[in-house]
Amino acid sequence: MAERIWRAWWRHNNVPLATIESWSEENLTEAPIPFALVAHENGVFAGTASVIADDLDERPNLTPWVAAVWVEPPFRQRGVGRRLVDDAARACFALGTKRLYLNALPAREAFYVLGGWQPIEREVGPHGVIVFSRNAPTPG
Ligand SMILES: CC(C)(COP(=O)(O)OP(=O)(O)OC[C@H]1O[C@@H](n2cnc3c(N)ncnc32)[C@H](O)[C@@H]1OP(=O)(O)O)[C@@H](O)C(=O)NCCC(=O)NCCS
Repeated sequence: MAERIWRAWWRHNNVPLATIESWSEENLTEAPIPFALVAHENGVFAGTASVIADDLDERPNLTPWVAAVWVEPPFRQRGVGRRLVDDAARACFALGTKRLYLNALPAREAFYVLGGWQPIEREVGPHGVIVFSRNAPTPG
């Protein structure tokens, strides 16, 4: 999982793989957050999504975040990404989180809006990301 996240977002910035591996190891502690989900089929890695406390330097007051959503190209367009994001959100709400955040480039807006995420801010930070939020379902 760390290797895929590194290849997708960090390798081209010269961040060593060991840095991402050490972040991933934080998923293995007793703390409920961070955690990561892995999708797999017959033992083959298909994708991943994480829930982390901080994801956007410009919005340090918002927490927690669904982040590092990645589906391997041969597994795309089959609902794996949607399922990973939904399961990450459900697990987070089960921990008592009332509001969850996610940031993405505008090209991904339709994917997240169709998945029930609400854009709350646009053009944030140097990459002009959209900040989305999703509220825990109300009981009953
Ligand atoms: C973005 C990403 C995670 C989506 O993953 P995915 O598994 O392809 O997503 P899904 O299959 O759940 O949904 C993708 C689309 O396929 C459609 N789809 C889902 N199941 C489908 C099926 N059985 N048949 C046909 N289409 C389907 C969805 O409606 C969705 O349509 P949309 O693009 O108009 O929203 C994936 O493309 C990816 O890893 N991209 C590179 C990394 C990235 O950009 N990550 C997001 C960072 S914010």
